[in-house]
Amino acid sequence: MANPYVPHPAVIKEIKTETRDTKTFRLEFLDENVKKAYQFKPGQFNMVGVFGVGEAPFSITSNPDEKEYFEHTIRAVGNVTNTIHKLKEGDILWVRGPYGRPWPIEEAKGKNILIVAGGLGLAPLRPVIYYIANHRDEFGHVEVLYGARTPLDMLYRSEMDEWRKIKDFTLRLTVDMVPEGVEWEHRVGVVTVLFEEMDSRPENTVVMVCGPEIMMHFVVKGLVERGFAKNQIYLSMERRMHCGIGKCGHCQIGSKFVCRDGPVFTFEEVEPLPDKIV
Ligand SMILES: Cc1cc2nc3c(=O)[nH]c(=O)nc-3n(C[C@H](O)[C@H](O)[C@H](O)COP(=O)(O)OP(=O)(O)OC[C@H]3O[C@@H](n4cnc5c(N)ncnc54)[C@H](O)[C@@H]3O)c2cc1C
Ligand code: FES
Repeated sequence: MANPYVPHPAVIKEIKTETRDTKTFRLEFLDENVKKAYQFKPGQFNMVGVFGVGEAPFSITSNPDEKEYFEHTIRAVGNVTNTIHKLKEGDILWVRGPYGRPWPIEEAKGKNILIVAGGLGLAPLRPVIYYIANHRDEFGHVEVLYGARTPLDMLYRSEMDEWRKIKDFTLRLTVDMVPEGVEWEHRVGVVTVLFEEMDSRPENTVVMVCGPEIMMHFVVKGLVERGFAKNQIYLSMERRMHCGIGKCGHCQIGSKFVCRDGPVFTFEEVEPLPDKIV
């Protein structure tokens, strides 16, 4: 987009309810030129605004090879997100982006990939799964470990059967607890319980992690204990944002701007930063 501050109108084409507080919005830019020029890489985010309310950053969660539309999976937590949840198909959102440093897809080519996600943290990793499915021969073994609070809090459950059909792809699931009456045939426990059965080994593997900071803390600790190097573990960080393009300092942690230098960082990069983020 020519001026990175200028948002463009995008129409909501489809809304899918994922969980009790989270929906996926399929959006399409109204301006054909903007639509044609728009391209994102897995892990990047858009600033999404509601006129008269405000704007907030959201990971782009759709297939990066899809040119007609893009998607955001949004949890209702406050002003902007609750307003977005009230919108209907045909309503307009104002979108600028894509911004930020993506997942290391190029570095991962020819290597194995281990993805570890918690809750909403699967949203920025879904485009990686699409990318792998579209370019399967470019990567080695792929393993996804995903944990959520309950089975009802898992994102993209209806897509998981398709994911399991991807060649040399393992999906392992766990939940913190199973409410009465809910069927569940996978593990129970925090996501690190899946380390006990994972196939991934440090050699020739790129690791991508996203979830609540407390979850990322224990995941990274467990991976380092298993011999994964700090520079082969990539994390996606969240901070309050305003400009989204490295100008205002809202998202600053030490010397890093999460919007511009991240949101994806190696653990080696974030470990020395102040306020002990992971
Ligand atoms: C790079 C990046 C990518 C993101 N991707 C996504 C995404 O894909 N989907 C998504 O739903 N969100 C995502 N977020 C978080 C999202 O930007 C915030 O949830 C949003 O800014 C909240 O705005 P609001 O106006 O609705 O809430 P506010 O009115 O600003 O906040 C209301 C209340 O919610 C709390 N709150 C705000 N944000 C969060 C949060 N993230 N988690 C829990 N409580 C919160 C506040 O502390 C406050 O108490 C991302 C953030 C970043 C930085
Ligand atoms: S949000 Fe303004 S510098 Fe990052």
